Amino acid sequence: MTDSTDLVADQVQRLTSIDPLLPPISDPGSGHTLVAAIAGGARVTGVLDIRLDRGHEVQELRPYVGRYGGVGMDAVLRALRARFDRTPPDPESMCLIVWPSRDADCTGPLLAHGLLPVLALGVRTKPAELPRTPRAEVREGNPDDASAVLRLARQESEYSALFSVSAPHPSASADEALAEELRIPGRVWVARQGLHTEEITGMVQVAELRAGSWERSCLLPAGRWGQILRVAVRPDERGRGVGRALADAAHGVLNRAELTRSVVWYSPLNPLASVFWHRQGYRPLWNVWQCRPADVVR
Ligand SMILES: CC(C)(COP(=O)(O)OP(=O)(O)OC[C@H]1O[C@@H](n2cnc3c(N)ncnc32)[C@H](O)[C@@H]1OP(=O)(O)O)[C@@H](O)C(=O)NCCC(=O)NCCS
Repeated sequence: MTDSTDLVADQVQRLTSIDPLLPPISDPGSGHTLVAAIAGGARVTGVLDIRLDRGHEVQELRPYVGRYGGVGMDAVLRALRARFDRTPPDPESMCLIVWPSRDADCTGPLLAHGLLPVLALGVRTKPAELPRTPRAEVREGNPDDASAVLRLARQESEYSALFSVSAPHPSASADEALAEELRIPGRVWVARQGLHTEEITGMVQVAELRAGSWERSCLLPAGRWGQILRVAVRPDERGRGVGRALADAAHGVLNRAELTRSVVWYSPLNPLASVFWHRQGYRPLWNVWQCRPADVVR
């Protein structure tokens, strides 16, 4: 049998050999401990954290599979299914597992047990090669741009929701927060259609990741990171270089703040974003696997 301390140390060793950018995991956190046996008498574990998020039950599993990789993941997910049989999750609940993107060995078991990789944390660790010849003019946004920027943000949210299993979020408070961002210098940038018109065709929102954020506390190597929070181009203007010009502007802002590393959340299922971000120098570090309701886990 492998004890839990060995499993954590094992897991750190295995994951850092899979992807050197993964930070060391330390504290498994609180929750219900699941234990599963695998061939040869070894055991693997998982910690199940059950919480409420915007009124919906979230069951987050943190597997500790150590050196056992996909075999261990399969065993922990079987233990999760057995727990759901004993204690059924809420019909509106969601199950989620955050797992390193490059751990290909665990992908098959996650899929086989009914989870889907609906989100990825993309990372860019080299300074952007700037300037590239801009294909659209980008300027700093201001409060007068609010209606165009909010319209673009809503279009982006509607499009991104096509690739989500979560409940849609209420948008009034998100609108207010974005309008507020337009008052902060350097946060929102807009692309305009041509030299002779002020019509806005795209927007990008950028910031430094807060020191206590989940990403900096749990998912990233230590140090400062920038974040692109949102990018949207008007549907009839996509594929003409506007998004690239916005990404360049955002990276220029981050470079000037000495943030040469940045992150973006996107869905690997989004056919536009998944191609776009990789072309802008990002690659996936973590995937968020989800199913809804949680009882979908097989
Ligand atoms: C993602 C989005 C912002 C990209 O903006 P865009 O103006 O369409 O992208 P660009 O024309 O600047 O393309 C930039 C690069 O991505 C590539 N690209 C963009 N869309 C592509 C597609 N559908 N297929 C293949 N390549 C694509 C281009 O080839 C280009 O590469 P290059 O600059 O090296 O030639 C835009 O499509 C959009 O608003 N999508 C809907 C909202 C969304 O998904 N937002 C992201 C959420 S994370």
